[in-house]
Amino acid sequence: MKIAVLPGDGIGTEIVAEALRVLEALDLSFETETALVGGAAYEAHGHPLPESTLKLAKEADAVLFGAVGDWKYDKLERSLRPEQAILGLRKNLGLFANFRPAICYEQLVDASSLKPELIAGLDILIIRELTGDIYFGQPRGRRTAVDGHFPGADEAFDTMRYSRPEVERIAHVAFQAARKRNKRVTSVDKANVLETFQFWKDIVTEVGKEYPDVELDHMYVDNAAMQLVKAPKKFDVVVTGNMFGDILSDEAAMLTGSIGMLPSASLNSSNQGLYEPSHGSAPDIAGKGVANPLATILSAAMMLRFSLNQPEAADRIESAVKHVLAQGLRTADIWSAGTTKVGTREMGDAVVAAITKKTITG
Ligand code: IPM
Ligand code: MG
Repeated sequence: MKIAVLPGDGIGTEIVAEALRVLEALDLSFETETALVGGAAYEAHGHPLPESTLKLAKEADAVLFGAVGDWKYDKLERSLRPEQAILGLRKNLGLFANFRPAICYEQLVDASSLKPELIAGLDILIIRELTGDIYFGQPRGRRTAVDGHFPGADEAFDTMRYSRPEVERIAHVAFQAARKRNKRVTSVDKANVLETFQFWKDIVTEVGKEYPDVELDHMYVDNAAMQLVKAPKKFDVVVTGNMFGDILSDEAAMLTGSIGMLPSASLNSSNQGLYEPSHGSAPDIAGKGVANPLATILSAAMMLRFSLNQPEAADRIESAVKHVLAQGLRTADIWSAGTTKVGTREMGDAVVAAITKKTITG
C-alpha cells in the first residue's frame, strides 16, 4: 500500500502531520511519500501541481491531502493559483464521487450554532459530483459581449454542463450508498430554472427505478439550503452537482459544530481516492498550532475504509476520536465552557493515546 501525502499550505502541514501519527499508531504496513502541492509547490517549482506530484498521486493507492491556498496568491493568473492543484488532481485522477459525511458527535451538540435538538444524532451524507458542472465546463473566459443587456461591454462567462454518463454514475453512487444507510436519497437541483439540472433530475429519476428499495425525492437547491438548517435530520443521502455540493457541504459542516470536524473522500471508478478535510488552509491560524486535526484524522479513517480495505483500522480511528471528545478535549473551534482547550498536537497525541491503549487492552 502506498499513500501519497500532500500537506499543501497553511494549516495543511500541521493537520496532516497529526493524521500521519495516528496512522503510524495503527501498526499497519504502508509506505508514504510526501510531495509539495498548492502554494508551497508554486514557490518551489513554479506550479501548484508539478508533474512529479501528479505522478506520485496517480501511482499511489490513496492520496492524503491537507489544504491549499493563501490570499497572497490571489493576484496570480488562475492557472498558477493553489486551488488549481486540487482541481487538477480531481480531474486527472477522475475523482468524480465526493463523499462528505456530516455527523454531529453527541459531545459537540453545543458547539453548533443550531439548537441542540435540531442536530443531536445527525448523520447525513452529502455526495457531490466533483469533476463536472460549471467548475470544469468549457468554454469559459472573458470577451466583449455581442448581445445581452450591455452589448459591447466586457463580460465573463462559464459553462454549466453535465453529460448523461456523468449524472448516471454519480446517481448510482448515491443509491448504492443509501442502501447501506437509511435508504433515502434527496437529489438537489435547480430544475425550475436550469436546463442542466432538469436533465440531472430526469436522469436521477431514471436511475432511481433500478433501486426500488431506495426512496428518492427531489429538492430545489434554495429549499435544500433552508431545510438543512430547519430540519437537517430529515436527510439521509443528498446527491447534487459540483457547485451546489460545494456550497451545501459547507453549510452542513456547521451542523456538526465546526468545519474542523468534516472529513471527505473523493473516489474514481477504481476506488482510488483522495482524502482531505472539507475545510481550507486557514492561513489566519497557520503555524499557531491551534487548528483542529480531527477532520484530517477522520479523512485518514475514510481512506483506510474506502481505498485501503482496512475497515477495522478505520473503526479504531473513529472510536478514538469519540473517546477524546468524551474526555472533554477540544480545539478552539469546538471549545465550549466546561471543556478542555487543546492545540493541534495535543489533540493528535490524545487520539494516538486512545488508539495505543486499545491495542494493549485488545
Ligand atoms: C472544496 C473547496 C474547493 C472547491 C476549492 C478549494 C477549489 O472549496 O473542496 O469544497 O471549491 O471545490
Ligand atoms: Mg468548498
